[in-house]
Amino acid sequence: MQESAKSHIPGFYKLTQAERLEIITAEYNLTVDEQVLLNNEGGLQLEQAEQMIENVVGLYRLPLGLATNFIVNGRELLVPMVIEEPSVVAGASLAAKLARAGGGFVAATDDPVMLGQIQVVASPDPWAARVDLLAHRAELLALANEVDPILQQLGGGARDLQAYILETFTGPMLIAQLHYDVRDAMGANAINTACERLAPRIEELTGGQVFLRILSNLADRRLARARVRIPESALAFSEFSGADVARGIELAGAFAAADPYRAATHNKGIMNGIDAVVLATGNDWRAVEAGAHAYAARDGKYTSLSTWRRDGEGQLVGTLELPLALGTIGGATRVHPTARLALKILGVQRATELAAIVVSVGLAQNLAALRALATEGIQRGHMSLHARQVALAASNS
Ligand code: MEV
Repeated sequence: MQESAKSHIPGFYKLTQAERLEIITAEYNLTVDEQVLLNNEGGLQLEQAEQMIENVVGLYRLPLGLATNFIVNGRELLVPMVIEEPSVVAGASLAAKLARAGGGFVAATDDPVMLGQIQVVASPDPWAARVDLLAHRAELLALANEVDPILQQLGGGARDLQAYILETFTGPMLIAQLHYDVRDAMGANAINTACERLAPRIEELTGGQVFLRILSNLADRRLARARVRIPESALAFSEFSGADVARGIELAGAFAAADPYRAATHNKGIMNGIDAVVLATGNDWRAVEAGAHAYAARDGKYTSLSTWRRDGEGQLVGTLELPLALGTIGGATRVHPTARLALKILGVQRATELAAIVVSVGLAQNLAALRALATEGIQRGHMSLHARQVALAASNS
C-alpha cells in the first residue's frame, strides 16, 4: 500500500486535529467515509457494538493518535495508537526519530503458530497413553486439518503434536499440545475448534478423559523480535552527552534484567506502546499481555523483555522479543471500522507484518521511557501533559 508514505512530519504535534486529518487524507487517500470515521460522530456504531458483546448500553471512546517517524524494515510508517495515557504517542514518536539515525527498526517474526492444550486425566497409565497418542500423530494432525480446509489451502494448519506428563496435586495428567499455524488470524477460534475436534479420538487412544481443550496464551512459537542500533551521538540532548544517555539506558536495561520489581515497570513501558497498537487494530490485548508476561518469566524468574547494550563502537543496541498473537482478519479487526482504517494506515495485510511493527513500537516505547528515566526523569514531559488532563477534568466538573 502506501510504500512511499513519509512518517517524518516535523511539527505534526503542533497542528490541529483537522490539519492532521487533512495530511493523512492526502497521504492515505482516505475516502469521505473514512474521514467521517475519525470525526466526532464516526467510528463504531451502536448496531455494530450490539454484534460484538452482550448487554450493550452504549459506546466508550478513547483517543486515536498517530506516532510519527517510524521506519520498520526500511518502510516509513505512521503508527495508529489508541491509549488514554499522555506522553505515550509523543514518546514513541521521539524514540522512532532517534532510531532513524540508525536506519530505523529491523524486525522479524516466527510463523504464526498457536499452541493448543488438551488435558487428559484418568488414563490407566498416562506414560503408556502418551506413547500411544504420539504413535498416532499423523492421524491426529490430519484430523485437526479437517476442521478448516481453507486455512490449509492458505498454507496454515496443524504443524505438530507433542505430549507431556504433568505431576499435579490430583495425580499425573497427560497434556497433548497441538501446534497450529493460523496464518493471518489471531487464531483462538481456529485452534480451540481443532482441539475440540481432537478430543474424542484422544480419549479413545489414551483410555482417559479429556477436560480442557483450549489455546495457550504463552504463544512462544509465535515470537516477534526487533532490534535497533542508534549512534550514541544521536542521543545527546540538553546538557546530556550521547555517551551519557547511552550509558544510562544500558544501566537501566541491566537493572530490569536483574530485578523483577524493576522488570515489571520496564515491561509495562514496553506494553504501553504494544497495547496501544494492538487496541487500535482491534486485536486482543489481554492475550498479548498474558503472553508477554508469561514469556518474561519463562526461565522461572520474571525479567526484562528487552536488552540494551553499548556495542563499544559508539552505538547503542536494543532488542525486544515476545509472543505476539495478532490477526489482520477475524474478530474485531474487520468488524470495528476504525480498526480497519488503522490496518489501512499501517498498510499491512499479513499478521506477521503487523507483529513486526508492533514489536518495533514496543522497543521504541521502551527507549523513550529509559531515555527520560536515565536523564531528566519521567515527570518533566509527563507532567506538562498531565496538567492538561487535570485542567480538562476540572473544566468537566
Ligand atoms: C509509565 O506508563 C511507564 C514507565 O514507568 C516505564 C518505565 O519505567 O520504564 C515510565
